[in-house]
Amino acid sequence: MLISIVGSGYVGLVAGACFAKLGNKVTLIDIDSETIEAINKGIPPIYEEGISEILSQVHLEATSDYRQIVNSDIIFLCVGTPVNEDGSMSLEHITKATEQIATEVEGKREYYVVVVKSTVVPGTTEELVIPILERSGQKAGRDFGVCMAPEFLREGKAVYDFMNPMRVIIGELDKRSGDTLLDLHRNLDAPVMRTSLRTAEMIKVASNAFLAMKISYINEIGNICKQLGIDTYEVARGMAFDDRIGSQFLDAGIGFGGSCLPKDLKALIVKAKQVGYRPGILEEILRLNEKQALEPVQLLKKHVSIHGASVGLLGLAFKPGTDDVRDSRAIEIARVLLQEGAKVKAYDPLAMANFKKLFPQIDYVTIEEVLDCDAVLIITEWDEFKDLDYRGKVVIDGRRIPKAREARIYEGVCW
Ligand code: UGA
Repeated sequence: MLISIVGSGYVGLVAGACFAKLGNKVTLIDIDSETIEAINKGIPPIYEEGISEILSQVHLEATSDYRQIVNSDIIFLCVGTPVNEDGSMSLEHITKATEQIATEVEGKREYYVVVVKSTVVPGTTEELVIPILERSGQKAGRDFGVCMAPEFLREGKAVYDFMNPMRVIIGELDKRSGDTLLDLHRNLDAPVMRTSLRTAEMIKVASNAFLAMKISYINEIGNICKQLGIDTYEVARGMAFDDRIGSQFLDAGIGFGGSCLPKDLKALIVKAKQVGYRPGILEEILRLNEKQALEPVQLLKKHVSIHGASVGLLGLAFKPGTDDVRDSRAIEIARVLLQEGAKVKAYDPLAMANFKKLFPQIDYVTIEEVLDCDAVLIITEWDEFKDLDYRGKVVIDGRRIPKAREARIYEGVCW
């Protein structure tokens, strides 16, 4: 099939590379000239396991020219939906990209399907995307199809997740739209669920909110366990024998960051309030998560006077396996440490360059120099931190690195 993908961030790039690998002809459309140049040279503009290899095997074309769209069977919308000041989801990029698509398809005679893959709040495809597309003079469901197909990729494992999905959710305007999109997924072995557009949108944000809830839940239990001298990780292990609970997403610590869980949770909260419902559980998940980021600083104060002390951060990425620092717990921690007069030093195997854009005043150093600080905070559980020699150090562990327990003074956040 001929596929156009608008937006080549994590979702667009990975989907584009993987659909090309599955035998389709894919064009990526983006406004960022550096991204376009990199993709056309076969260089991934982001760090993601396995993506380099695919880009060296397939021909992926990137351009800023929306005219490419006119030949497509399927057009994916994969632009970002960042968070607004008030927590709502910004639909600015979706709006602009859809307007461009509507302009380009005006003279198109053949049937095509527009698929929203960006994460959006329920109702967006029907209330925003379709009306804009119909400005082309064509009618949704007659001249073109519309689907909403949420993506469930984890950063760092995105290529694997794309090729081995746990489920394919197809929100469809009508059967023909859904059939076309289903055909594109025929070589992927996964359960498929076909549903309405707004149900698909809700499945995505509700899934992320649920994952966020598991983390805040175990962190709450962890905070209680810490007071009672109980090891939360043993508690989680014991809980996990019950299949209804499961073992995943019960790693207690400093909470969730990244570009998805916090943002989608906030957007769902705002959407719920807009329709007159107060989402108490969702609000509490977020509140707890915000508080949890600063637990290491509170624990540090028990042992070290922060003003003038050198404090080393091990890890800056929001999780291991990525250079992404969006909403990383390290941001809030660094901000407060600097505010309280600490000399902050940091090391991360991939994310130092990105973090430096936010905090140029921090010293970016080697692991050894971080370990030489008056105190060390473990923020990201990179493998290379698992075998360090922590003896003699003051360590506050936000991510449960067993060997760090050998430190002279050791505090785990939830254990
Ligand atoms: C998340 C979801 O896991 C994906 O299913 C979803 O597709 C994606 O958002 C998205 O909407 O695009 P991701 O943001 O890559 O994926 O990160 P996660 O692996 O979910 O981790 C999020 C945060 O939770 C990290 O900061 C991680 O350290 C933290 N976490 C995770 C915990 O604190 N405890 C856990 O047990 C698990």
